[in-house]
Amino acid sequence: MLASKAKPIKNFDANKLQHDDRPVHEWYRFVLSYPPHLVRDYLQKFGATNRDLVLDPFCGTGTTLVECKKLGIPSVGVEANAMAQLACSTKIDWSADADSLYRAARRIADEAGEQLAEDRIEDDPMPMNHSASARRTLPDDLLKLILTDSISPLPMHKTLVLREALDRYRGRHKNHLRLALAKALVGPIGNLHFGPEVGVGKKKDDAAVIAPWLSEVRRMADDLRIVEKSAAVHSCVHNGDARDISKFLQPNSIDAVITSPPYPNEKDYTRTTRLESVILGLIKSKDDLRALKRSLIRSNTRGVFAIDDDDLKVAGNSEIQRIAKAIEERRIELGKTSGFERMYARVTKLYFGGMQRHLASLRPFLRRGAQLAYVVGDQASYLRVMIRTGQILSELAEGLGYEVVRIDLFRTRLSTATKEQLREEVVILRWPGP
Ligand SMILES: C[S@@+](CC[C@H](N)C(=O)[O-])C[C@H]1O[C@@H](n2cnc3c(N)ncnc32)[C@H](O)[C@@H]1O
Repeated sequence: MLASKAKPIKNFDANKLQHDDRPVHEWYRFVLSYPPHLVRDYLQKFGATNRDLVLDPFCGTGTTLVECKKLGIPSVGVEANAMAQLACSTKIDWSADADSLYRAARRIADEAGEQLAEDRIEDDPMPMNHSASARRTLPDDLLKLILTDSISPLPMHKTLVLREALDRYRGRHKNHLRLALAKALVGPIGNLHFGPEVGVGKKKDDAAVIAPWLSEVRRMADDLRIVEKSAAVHSCVHNGDARDISKFLQPNSIDAVITSPPYPNEKDYTRTTRLESVILGLIKSKDDLRALKRSLIRSNTRGVFAIDDDDLKVAGNSEIQRIAKAIEERRIELGKTSGFERMYARVTKLYFGGMQRHLASLRPFLRRGAQLAYVVGDQASYLRVMIRTGQILSELAEGLGYEVVRIDLFRTRLSTATKEQLREEVVILRWPGP
């Protein structure tokens, strides 16, 4: 296998959205999103054309699919998190008429504005609002699901008034309008702060809700005018589990895969989208949250279940067993005894077992010669034991009959645990056929 000598782009600059990439990509992204130029580079390297079909099995908010569509290349995505799937499916729907989308938003904004006026609350943050007792809030069980203080009471009231007006809307632009609300919630409306972990930043007593939402819709309408000529390029996304991909794909149909799966890094990915998922009704209960966690590749101890058995798939892999043993020995040596710490070794095995299941289930759907790019990062989150994610994935893939073409270095990141630079890599595979 060749290790590429290509010069890596520096750290987080590599992840920023370049100015020209803003249309559509900017409708909604999350901290986990990779940059469009990375997708473009690999589409070009793979020689993808409008006769190919590109898959992103962990498509998140749809960077791969949007970029393919912009370039006229058909694509398909799979995503387990309903909020990310909503974002992706909306970002690839360019058939919406820009003028009627904005007109619909204006009507809803007027309706919500009238309701707020009745409540004697201004959308603009005003001193008088502070005396208004906020009336609408979420039921207690839903409040418990969002990060405490991730939205202040007055913006919550205004958001729920706007959501009610949105719920009454029955037109074809509903998903665009909901996505604009999700975007505004994680931006100017809520108190969230991403850096790169999601947390609660400076609390705002009050914040405008209708105005930033409308401005997100206006941005979408402007972008739709730019991209409408490519609206017919095929693209679709399924809400499901990439460890069992058979439900979503046609046999022998995929020419290329460009994707970034989760890494074993102890981040609870469901927290990143929790506020908007709950407000938009995509998570309605603790059971819904549990179901979402169960459908994800295990990459943190908060998402592990007693009946999980993906680890059995890698029971014979000596490197994964060695890492798990090293984590467990370090835990004992350091006297770490919490329930979560006890699970570090197990979650590492579950992660690679899940990825093994994914790579195995994908094979019948790949065309002979299909090219694959998996963007993954090395990790040291579990008691500083180094996990060379890309290296191990490439070995798992090889064992399943894939050819490992090379591993490119995409960028390096500073590890908070070890203060070392960790490699973020692109594992390039080729499917030689059965
Ligand atoms: C690193 S993010 C991908 C981000 C994406 N490249 C983008 O630009 O938005 C990994 C994604 O995999 C999803 N995911 C995790 N486990 C999954 C599974 N078993 N099946 C499908 N998607 C999964 C997560 O919800 C997350 O959105």
